[in-house]
Amino acid sequence: MNKTYITTAIPYVNGAPHIGHAMDYCLADVYARYRRLSGDEVKFQAGVDEHGNKIFQKANDLGIPVEEYVADNAKKFMEFIEKLDASYTDFIRTTDVDHGRRCQEIWRRLSDHIYKAKYEGWYCSGCERFITQKEYDENNGICPDHQKPYEKLVEENYYLRISDFKDKIRAAIETDEMLILPDFRKKEILKLLEESPDVSISRSTEQLTWGVPVPGDDTQVMYVWIDALSNYITILGYPDEDINEWWPAAAQFVGKDILRFHAIIWPAMLIGLGLPLPKVLLSHGFILANGQKMSKSIGNVVDPIEVLEKHGLDAFRYYFLKHADTFADSDFTWEKFENAYNNELANDLGNLVQRLATLAKKNGIVLTETPEFHFDAKYIELMNAFEFSKTFEYVWGKVQDINKRIDEEKPWSLAKNGETEKLQECMQSLIFDLLNVNYMLSPFIPQTTERIFEIFENPIAPPEAPLFPKD
Ligand code: MSP
Repeated sequence: MNKTYITTAIPYVNGAPHIGHAMDYCLADVYARYRRLSGDEVKFQAGVDEHGNKIFQKANDLGIPVEEYVADNAKKFMEFIEKLDASYTDFIRTTDVDHGRRCQEIWRRLSDHIYKAKYEGWYCSGCERFITQKEYDENNGICPDHQKPYEKLVEENYYLRISDFKDKIRAAIETDEMLILPDFRKKEILKLLEESPDVSISRSTEQLTWGVPVPGDDTQVMYVWIDALSNYITILGYPDEDINEWWPAAAQFVGKDILRFHAIIWPAMLIGLGLPLPKVLLSHGFILANGQKMSKSIGNVVDPIEVLEKHGLDAFRYYFLKHADTFADSDFTWEKFENAYNNELANDLGNLVQRLATLAKKNGIVLTETPEFHFDAKYIELMNAFEFSKTFEYVWGKVQDINKRIDEEKPWSLAKNGETEKLQECMQSLIFDLLNVNYMLSPFIPQTTERIFEIFENPIAPPEAPLFPKD
C-alpha cells in the first residue's frame, strides 16, 4: 500500500483560531481523503507552535502561567480541527518533551553548519525575523505585516549557514524535485534564495527563555523556526526512529507568508541531516475579510466558529474550498457566504437530492445493481495538480448537468405515461450519475456526501428536512 504523508503548518498559540487558519486543514484534508480513496495509507500531521516571545509575552500580559496559556490554546486549535472534520492522524505540540529532545539532537547533527556570531541590525518582533537593510529601506522602517517599526538589535546568536546548501536547494526547486506550488511563488523563492543570508537560529536567554535550550550552551535557546520546522519529522520519531516509511512528505501545506521558511531553511536542514526533500510545498493564498487583511486592531477578524455554526460544517468547507481559490487571496463576506449557501448548495445540490429521491420513492424505484464509483480522468488530473478549488468547480458543473438532464428527460412524464421500464432505466441512470458525482465530492464535503449515500440506499428515502435549509 502506498504511504502518503501530509503536513500542515503549526499555528502559533497566541490567540484563538481565525478563519485563515482553516485553510491549511481544509486543503490538506481534501488531499488526505482523496489519497485514501485512491488506496493510500495516509498519515496527516497537525499541531501547534508554542514557543517564542510573542506567546510568552501574551501569557505574561494576561497574568497566566505560560504553560497553562499554551495548553488552553492548543486545546482550542485541536477542537477547531475536529470541528472542521479534518482527518488528521497525529497531533504535535512543540512543548512535547520528545519533540524538544529530538530537536536538540537535530541541532547536534547540524552542528557542522552552525556558527556563533554577533548580529547588529533590524528585527521585527511580529515576524520574529531579522530584517535586511534592503528590506528596511523598501518598507521605510515599518513592517508592512505588523504596522510596527523595525527594532534595532545587537545580539550574539547561532546561525545556520544557508550558503552551504544554496546550490542543492536551487537545483531541487528548479528541477521540481521539491515542487513549489503555485509556479509564480517558485520564481519568487528562487530570487529570495539568491539573496538569503545565513539565518539566526537562536536567541540569548536574556531576550527569550521560552524555547528549547541550545545543546551545550545554556545562554541560548532555539529560535522558533528550527524548533517549529523540526516538528514535521520529530512527530515521526526522528532521529530515534527510522522515518523512511513516511518521509519524504507527499505534500506540505503552508500559507504564502511562511513559504520562504519552508522553501529555504527547511530544505537546508533536511540536506544537512541527509534526508530527502518534501515532494511538494503548497502555498495557499490568504483569506481577507471584506477585501482587507484581518487584524485585531482593525477589528475585522471573522470568528470561524460563528461561520461554522451558521449553516454547518459543509457550508463552511464549501465556501473555503470552492469560493476561496486554492492559490490566490480570497475574500470572505457574510453576503458572499450566504449567496453560496442559498444559490449553490441549497439550490443545486440540496434540491437535486430532494427531487431525485422524492421521484424515486413516489414511483417505487429500487436500485437493481450496486453502483461502482470512480474518479474521472479530468478530476484525477486536477487533483494530482493540487488544483482543489478548480476540481471542486469541475465537479459542481456535473451537479448542474444532472439537474439539466432531469429537466430534459422528464422522468415524471414517463411515469405519467406508464412507461415503467424506461422510467426505471432513466431514474437508475440519473441516480448512479449523482452517486458518482457524490463520490467525487466526498473529499470536499464529507458529511453531506455520507448522508446522500444513505438516502440512496434501498429503499430510497428522501430526507425529511432539506439538506440545506434556508432561513
Ligand atoms: N507558527 C508558524 C508556522 C510554523 S510551521 C512549521 C505560523 N503560525 S501562524 O499562526 O501565523 O500561521 C499558521 C498558518 O495559518 C500558516 O500557514 C499561515 O499562512 C496561515 N494563515 C494565517 N493567516 C491566514 C489568513 N488570513 N488566510 C489564510 N491563511 C492564513 O506562521
